[in-house]
Amino acid sequence: MNSSNNILEVDNLRVNFKTPDGQVTAVNNLNFNLAQGETLGIVGESGSGKSQTAFALMGLLAGNGQITGEARFEGENILALNDKAMNRIRSEKIAMIFQDPMTSLNPYMKVGKQLMEVLILHKGMSKADAFEASVKMLDAVKMPEARKRMNMFPHEFSGGMRQRVMIAMALLCQPKLLIADEPTTALDVTVQAQILTLLNELKSEFNTSIIMITHDLGVVAGLCDKVLVMYAGRTMEYGQTDDVFYRPTHPYTQGLLEAIPRLDGEEETLTTIAGNPPNLLNLPTGCPFQARCQFVEHRCRTEAPALEEYQPGKLRACHKPVHSEMTP
Ligand SMILES: Nc1ncnc2c1ncn2[C@@H]1O[C@H](COP(=O)(O)OP(=O)(O)O)[C@@H](O)[C@H]1O
Ligand SMILES: [Mg+2]
Repeated sequence: MNSSNNILEVDNLRVNFKTPDGQVTAVNNLNFNLAQGETLGIVGESGSGKSQTAFALMGLLAGNGQITGEARFEGENILALNDKAMNRIRSEKIAMIFQDPMTSLNPYMKVGKQLMEVLILHKGMSKADAFEASVKMLDAVKMPEARKRMNMFPHEFSGGMRQRVMIAMALLCQPKLLIADEPTTALDVTVQAQILTLLNELKSEFNTSIIMITHDLGVVAGLCDKVLVMYAGRTMEYGQTDDVFYRPTHPYTQGLLEAIPRLDGEEETLTTIAGNPPNLLNLPTGCPFQARCQFVEHRCRTEAPALEEYQPGKLRACHKPVHSEMTP
């Protein structure tokens, strides 16, 4: 184990895709780390490279993808592991849950059997023990009438309940690290809040480290210890949640914060950042956010801002002075 407390250390992670139109860098020199029990939020709009970051860590990248950099999990670079070794890590140490639970659940197999198989296969449990452990885990994710539901098919569950099954399945092998890729995006706000509460409870109960991927900065506020804000494959801002959420220093983070739906008012007010993320095949010189930035100046169009640690543990990539006004 490394000298620091980190369970995961990611250094200069880069994901390139070969496409017929040229090379695309979906993840561009990402650096972050995670201590045991810590939760990191990775936030950014669609296409910013969040899922490819997760897929790279899980060894699930598409065939035209190529990875450079290191990701040391418990001190071992998992990006260099062969399929067999990575399979073992995936079943025993790192679990992933997806936006659509049906990508992981077999629609033709009863939920109980799917849960039990994990334990029989990876933990060598007897059928009877696996049954009881599965019921217990369904209870832990607050599944009502867990024992009865073991005997049901995935389509008999609501979307929120299916997501609970997914979380139960992911936690069965007591992973050290859980990667959740937009696990609440398809759910309505009430169910989303319930799932986030559940993840918060499970986090303290199992001391699992979590990487929470979302496009909604609101989701990370109550769950994550720290946040990495991504845009066009790069880190825009990275730091403790309190700092990033309450004292954002990057105009992109500011824009995401203004885009959080408010439920306190009569009607939802929602500002979105004008414009769209850039085409990765045709990135501008300079800052990737320049075309949408309210503070853009000449330098932003000629020179990409470096990711700079302006205070211990607080990083941002922007030419705008750190403590300047956030209203243009
Ligand atoms: N197999 C692929 N070939 C080429 N480009 C890809 C491939 N997979 C993903 N990309 C590109 O990588 C970028 C980042 O994608 P992704 O990580 O899925 O974004 P998100 O932040 O929405 O999860 C996207 O622009 C996407 O077009
Ligand atoms: Mg995604």
